[in-house]
Parts: sequence; structure tokens; C-alpha cells
Amino acid sequence: MSAIACIRRQACTPTGLTLEWSTGQADHVPAIWLRDACACERCRDPGSDQHLVDVLDLDEGVTVEAALVADRLMVTFTDRSGSRHDGWVPVERLAARIRPDPPTCVWTSAHGATLLTGAVDLASSDDVMPLLRAVDSYGIGMVHGVPTVPGEVARFAERFGFVRVTNYGAVFDVVASDDPVNLAYTPAPLALHTDNPYRDPVPTVQLLHCLAASATGGATRFADGFLAAERLRFEAPHGFAMLSSCDVSFRFHDATCDLGARGRLIDVDATGAVVGIRVNHRSMEPPELAAAELTDFYGAYRRLCELLAAPGAAIELTLAPGDLVVWDNRRVLHGRAGFPASGARHLQGCYADIDAVRSAVRMAART
Ligand code: OGA
Ligand code: ZN
Repeated sequence: MSAIACIRRQACTPTGLTLEWSTGQADHVPAIWLRDACACERCRDPGSDQHLVDVLDLDEGVTVEAALVADRLMVTFTDRSGSRHDGWVPVERLAARIRPDPPTCVWTSAHGATLLTGAVDLASSDDVMPLLRAVDSYGIGMVHGVPTVPGEVARFAERFGFVRVTNYGAVFDVVASDDPVNLAYTPAPLALHTDNPYRDPVPTVQLLHCLAASATGGATRFADGFLAAERLRFEAPHGFAMLSSCDVSFRFHDATCDLGARGRLIDVDATGAVVGIRVNHRSMEPPELAAAELTDFYGAYRRLCELLAAPGAAIELTLAPGDLVVWDNRRVLHGRAGFPASGARHLQGCYADIDAVRSAVRMAART
């Protein structure tokens, strides 16, 4: 049974069930939902918990008779054909209907910095869960003490998921190179950005591991894109609407690939909630918009970037050898200050998937 609520009262009619929860919430559960949620061994494979009943075999006119027995709702379903099925629905599955999604915890530089300074030192602990929980809740987490050995960043990603190989390789070296295919491989400063917006799908997790720091310069910056997007929505609703509705093109090409993808700078879901940010001016093409729209588009785009880089918005830190940062590349923007080409600065990076982070957090919550 759910830790948050229990059923206080229930009333069943043939078309569904009305529940009153201990939280005070009321919920009407239609008969077809109950039929689809049936957990008996003829409806769900006991091993995998996957549906054994195809959607085309669900009868929209199904009726129900239900009774609560301990942590199960025992249900007799009757199809319009008259065929009956005795099954049951876990109360936990009913409780999930009324459980709100956890609120998004946005951060500014002060709060963000405490997220990172609380990082676990892997030299004295093996626990990567605080980092993974931070990535899940705040979009970013860090650990110290990762051996300064090339390839460790991929080994770290494999502790919770799988490395996403790209044209940059399984692991990429962020060093000032003589023949750079990307401005990241030069000593130039990089404005706050999300990586690989020219890829479909965009990698959802990015990792950077510091092997050697620059004696001067090269500071790393991170900003919460969800906070900046909400600030833009508050102060410039029209600008927010433009950035969340106009597709723009991103492109990366070199001797080995020609990658292109289109998308919005701010992705929102069906409820209007911000679910993704795509900002990378290095690889964005000028938008193909009508002249009248372009002025508003650039105004909103520039304002979003100002909000990201505003004093107090971004965390700034100089990564030390052994530091490894993991972030949600759909939410958190990263950038860096320039550094001397002759210096020793060497970061290694790789990509992974956010679903692996969420899975690890859920698995840990089970125990
Ligand atoms: C990158 C990048 C930042 C840095 O490799 O994607 O943005 O600090 N690097 O060098
Ligand atoms: Zn980058």
C-alpha cells in the first residue's frame, strides 16, 4: 500500500469507482481504466508485469463490480458481449493516480554551488547515489576523487547506465587541439550551451571529468535552464511562446559527418511545463522566420541567454583533477572561460541517458 494515502470511502457503479482518499482527494476511476489496470496473471505476465491483453481487446463498454480486500480491489468485469472476468487492481496503482509529480526544484548560483560542494569524495566512499539523486532532482551533481586516468569517465557512466557513443567517440578529450573539429577543442571561451542540439535524439546526460586543470582560466559554468525559461515566461510571455513554438535548425559538419536537427529552444509538455532546453549558438542556424517574427524571436532568445548568464544565476567553479560532473543536458547549460593554449587543461567527457539515472534512483528507493 502507498505510504501516502489509504482509501477512506468507495462507491462503485457499473461505469466506475469513486474513491475518497485519506488525503481528502476524491477520484473517479472509469471502468475501462480498471480493466486496463487488472493485475491478475491472465492480464499481466507475472514475470515481467507486461500487459498480456492487447488494447484492441479492451471493451470500452465494460462494466464493473468491485470490493476492496486488503491491498487489492477485487473486480468483476463484464464486457458488452456478456463475458465476465474476475481480476484485481493493486491499491498502490490506484494511489498513483492521485500522487502529484514532485515539483521541479530550480536553483541559482548560491544554491547550485552548495549542491556541488556537498559532493561525495570517491576516494573515501563508493556511494554514487547522492550524485544520481542530485541529477534527478536538480539536473546536476558532482563527485570528487575519480582517478585521473583516461577512460574513467566512461567507467563512471557505466556505473549507472550506458555510454552513448557519438561521432566524437565513446569518450572525447576536451583539450586545446592543433586541428580542432569543434570550438570546444580550442582554448576559446564557450558561452552557456547545451551539447549536440544538432543530433536526433539529443544526448540527455553529459559527463565531464577533470584530468588536469589550467593554472589560469578555464573556469566551468553551469546554469539552470528551467529557471531561466520560467523567468522569461514571467517577464515576457510572448517571447516565451515564440521560443517554445518556433523550430530552429542546428548543424554540425566535419570531414566525417553532417548532422542536422530541428527543435525549439524551449520544449514544453502538454500541460505547458518546461521539459527541455536547446541553446547552442555555435551550431544554430539563423531561424527561417518571417521578418516581423524575427525581431521578437531574437529579442526573446537574447533575453533567455541574458537570464542564464545574469549575476547570481550561474554556478562558476574551477574543476580540480578528479572532479567529475554529471548533468541533464536537456536542462542544465554549461560553458567555460578561455584558458592559455599552452596550459595543461584536460577534461574528458562522454554522454549517457537520463532514463538510467531515474532507474537507479527508483531501484535505490525500493530497498
Ligand atoms: C564540451 C564543453 C566545456 C569545458 O566539451 O562540451 O562544453 O569546460 N566543454 O571545456
Ligand atoms: Zn559543451
